[in-house]
Amino acid sequence: PFILSIAGGGSTYTPGIVKSLMVRLEAFPLAEIRLYDIDEARQNTIAPVVEKVIRDHSQYIKFTVTNDAETAFSGAHFVFAQMRVGQYKMREQDEKIPLRHGVVGQETCGPGGLAYGLRTILPMVELIDQVTRYADEKAWIINYSNPAAIVAEGVRRLRPQARVLNICDMPVAAMRNMGAILGVDRHKLEVDYFGLNHFGWFTQVRVEGEDRLPELREHVARFGLLTEDAAQTDPQHADPSWVKTWRNIKPIMDHFPEYLPNPYLQYYLMPNEIVAHQDPDYTRANEVMNGREKKLFAAAQEYHCSGVLPDAFHVGVHGAFIVDVACSLAFDLRQRHLVIVENKGAIANLPYDAMVEVPAYITAAGPEPVRMGAVPLFHQTLLMQQLASEQLLVEATIEGSYEKALQAFTLNRTVPTMQHAKAILDEMIEANRDYWPAL
Ligand code: G6P
Ligand code: MN
Repeated sequence: PFILSIAGGGSTYTPGIVKSLMVRLEAFPLAEIRLYDIDEARQNTIAPVVEKVIRDHSQYIKFTVTNDAETAFSGAHFVFAQMRVGQYKMREQDEKIPLRHGVVGQETCGPGGLAYGLRTILPMVELIDQVTRYADEKAWIINYSNPAAIVAEGVRRLRPQARVLNICDMPVAAMRNMGAILGVDRHKLEVDYFGLNHFGWFTQVRVEGEDRLPELREHVARFGLLTEDAAQTDPQHADPSWVKTWRNIKPIMDHFPEYLPNPYLQYYLMPNEIVAHQDPDYTRANEVMNGREKKLFAAAQEYHCSGVLPDAFHVGVHGAFIVDVACSLAFDLRQRHLVIVENKGAIANLPYDAMVEVPAYITAAGPEPVRMGAVPLFHQTLLMQQLASEQLLVEATIEGSYEKALQAFTLNRTVPTMQHAKAILDEMIEANRDYWPAL
């Protein structure tokens, strides 16, 4: 049985992930679960809820809660990382500062994602170093930390040898919705996909060898990438703003005759329309703080007082996916999953060393990317511009370069002019005083 550490134990996602682990104990046996967080108070609030989720399934798994890295990682076989540097307070800034300038306010896309990247790369590297120091030498870090594209590039530059697999639940969430639309279990779908994280396209969606993408496109053009009544998405993506996000990609179908976009492409292809419908005073961070976070804290409080844990945490794709990936790494299952990997020719006309999102077979030695071939000039160009923006941001972080940060902001498609880029960057430097390296 494995020792598993969750870095970012105080996350609102932790109970759901642990629940997913509990229903998969036969496939992925656990001796111990450790929660690790630098915010001790927050983690201590959530830990009893997590412990209850574990005890409902097993009396034998050891449960440890700590803010000490050595205790957290000594001898660990797997580390699930989900850090949120600056927490939701800073997510709120990432979203609201650009919006004040009429630019997309999103935690991973546009200036918000770049700002979040500047906060996260160095702490992520620190975490990797701690794991390398204390954990089993074969340990894998499976990393959900956002902004995943930038974090992956930062890790590649700074710790190329680390056993880190960067993942995102958005492609698999899209596949869950595709399954619901087609009336097919999502595990029956096999997809081809190319891009960067939160910036890619499905090119085929096969069910028993037959490509169902044309049918899906017709549905998406009418209803978006979810079922007509939105009822079949899991609670993680059922909030009104998420339903909007799934639906917003409808116009992309009319403009481009091929493929199925990752919904995040709406921020790059029609930023003005997205901004026009965003409330600059109440963004997704507010929705999460007043929703998911408040609900979890209330549940923890009620459990503390009454001994009854109100809401059973659902097993959604977010938790299920990371457990699937862990199983495939642990037992060399060679399952095919969409993950973030070094390109190495998988997308023939993107740089060899770019961190791309493509299908890969997940083996005990890591992901083996599947070749997606060369992509059309239009997509290649969009990808190259986004890649350059992200790579410059990573260089800005490593070198403490204001100039490169400004170039990263200016190159981002969500940002209309260099003046916007500079105004937003300068405000963000102020807001991130406690987090960013000096630029
Ligand atoms: C999806 C994305 C994640 C992102 C999350 C935000 O799951 O793949 O990268 O962090 O959405 O969700 P939230 O509910 O916090 O807005
Ligand atoms: Mn993601």
